[in-house]
Amino acid sequence: MMKNTQPLARVALLAAAFGLATAPFALAADEGSVARGGRLYDKWYKETNQEAPKEAHPLYPKDASYAEKPNANWRCKECHGWDGKGADGAYSSGKHFTGIKGINGMQGGDPAAVVAVLTAPAHGFGDLLSDVDLTDLANFVVHGDYGYDAYVADGKIVGDAENGGQVYRTVCANCHGAEGKLPKEMPPLGSLVGNPYEVMHKVLNGQPHEAMPALRAFDHQIAADVIAYIGAELPAE
Ligand code: HEC
Ligand code: HEC
Repeated sequence: MMKNTQPLARVALLAAAFGLATAPFALAADEGSVARGGRLYDKWYKETNQEAPKEAHPLYPKDASYAEKPNANWRCKECHGWDGKGADGAYSSGKHFTGIKGINGMQGGDPAAVVAVLTAPAHGFGDLLSDVDLTDLANFVVHGDYGYDAYVADGKIVGDAENGGQVYRTVCANCHGAEGKLPKEMPPLGSLVGNPYEVMHKVLNGQPHEAMPALRAFDHQIAADVIAYIGAELPAE
């Protein structure tokens, strides 16, 4: 008898009827939080409007390339990589090599466990970041889907440049200009596509402490298409 069923129970019944999960109000990841976590992963001190620390991060190896640069070696990405794979990914060699593991082992896990890692003395972020910042970072680590392997082949982003051009001209050109040489002093967008994981990260999550939109809530293929367009059509200098 549906007649006397309470609204909540009705939703559960409907969910059951359609074969959905029995917890009808369980939400998917909050993409806004994940994107902000991505910007914190990039440069947390910019995103939170702080000065970068003046001393090297205690976990950064003393003999690695950026040991003298706290503004670099305090960035999550410097130790764990844009691809989240640490020493198993793009940072397995070269000037960004540290030998540190990735964050990808915690993908799909419990955000509270990530917050516990970040606030432990080794990482030391408990005094530097707010609860909201830590939650956003944890959501990025758990839900960020930063591998992007489906969109990368031979070190380049694979996408439909024609579709990407339509997106570029409507979403990006207002700020970056038709040629990708604006705003401010930034290098031309056409020169940045050589690092597919970094550019995917920026396009999906936005730029720390800037008004740039994050495309994360759309299908990632749209971001890949825009990057394919930038690589194919915009000048590198
Ligand atoms: C200076 C290097 C460095 C920086 C910067 C750094 N980490 Fe780490 N991280 C490590 C090391 C080393 C480990 C492994 C040992 C440990 O847990 O202390 C680790 C472990 C982790 C783990 C656990 C991975 C696992 O599977 O056990 C997560 C998650 C993590 N870091 C996230 C972050 C985030 C998010 C940031 C930025 C807010 C960050 N880290 C900044 C060096 C760093
Ligand atoms: C509201 C303005 C705005 C829009 C719209 C915008 N951006 Fe940005 N973007 C910025 C600003 C500001 C920066 C930082 C510039 C700097 O650091 O000098 C930036 C930085 C970037 C960077 C990183 C540059 C670097 O130096 O690492 C990339 C990549 C990028 N944008 C791509 C895009 C793409 C692709 C789109 C469209 C999907 C887009 N942006 C839309 C404002 C915008």
